[in-house]
Amino acid sequence: MSNAAQIEYWNGQAGETWVQAAAQTDRLLAPISKIAIERAGASAGECAIDIGCGCGTTSLELADAGAKVWGVDISEPMLALAKKRAGIREDLSFSVADAAVQKFTAEHQLVFSRFGVMFFDEPAAAFANIRTSLVRGGRLCFVCWQAPRDNPWMSIGGQAVAPFLPKPETPVDPRAPGPFAFADKGYLRSILQVAGFSQIKIESITPTLHVADTLDEAMEFQGRIGPVSRVLGELEGDTKAKALEAAREALAPHVKADGVNLGAACWLVTARN
Ligand SMILES: C[S@@+](CC[C@H](N)C(=O)[O-])C[C@H]1O[C@@H](n2cnc3c(N)ncnc32)[C@H](O)[C@@H]1O
Repeated sequence: MSNAAQIEYWNGQAGETWVQAAAQTDRLLAPISKIAIERAGASAGECAIDIGCGCGTTSLELADAGAKVWGVDISEPMLALAKKRAGIREDLSFSVADAAVQKFTAEHQLVFSRFGVMFFDEPAAAFANIRTSLVRGGRLCFVCWQAPRDNPWMSIGGQAVAPFLPKPETPVDPRAPGPFAFADKGYLRSILQVAGFSQIKIESITPTLHVADTLDEAMEFQGRIGPVSRVLGELEGDTKAKALEAAREALAPHVKADGVNLGAACWLVTARN
């Protein structure tokens, strides 16, 4: 269980990009954060772990709710921002650690994650390890994405640029580590069952996300995070220009007086140890 590819990915350009786009990402994900943090129900005196905490936004939110929070992530650049944002707060700590193999002690009442648990090479084994951090009856609460087709905020640009990107040599495994690895609800449930969790609930939440105020801003943001960013990394010259124009044309009809607001679909998952 190495997660080596993801460790390299999140410590490379992706980690730097997420740091640069942290404020935009937080604004985009705010409606989802609100629901997930409320459902997590952290309270004063509880110990919580934020898995794949990234730049630390939800760790801060859990600490603001009263919990003592440990943010765990493999990305050094993202954790550096998390530490900077936390300042000298004593109710927050952060570690560079792979949640799949980190040695935990069973002293936490809550394990939380906002989109940080879909990147494990061996998800059932990783969740079994994560479960060892919880007291008996302790809570797991996380959000992950449903399928791309149910997430137009990302797929509209993605579908537009797809014809310009190189085709994969072998079919892409939809369950491979990545943002949509847990799109299949039955598969997600089976992972948590095998990992030993009980009282598993998987609820669909379908918020509208504010992608940007303007078309230019939407293009700039999508060029950093999501499928359109592949165009900037992998294409050049005329093909790159045509791909970006296709994404722009696809997003243009969605620009309204209040900006670019598009649908999203996630699973809100809760379970107990
Ligand atoms: C999509 S980002 C989400 C970051 C943050 N939770 C947020 O909502 O802004 C996924 C995060 O999961 C982290 N991650 C991926 N695999 C991990 C692992 N095995 N252990 C800990 N963190 C991991 C990445 O480094 C990244 O910060």
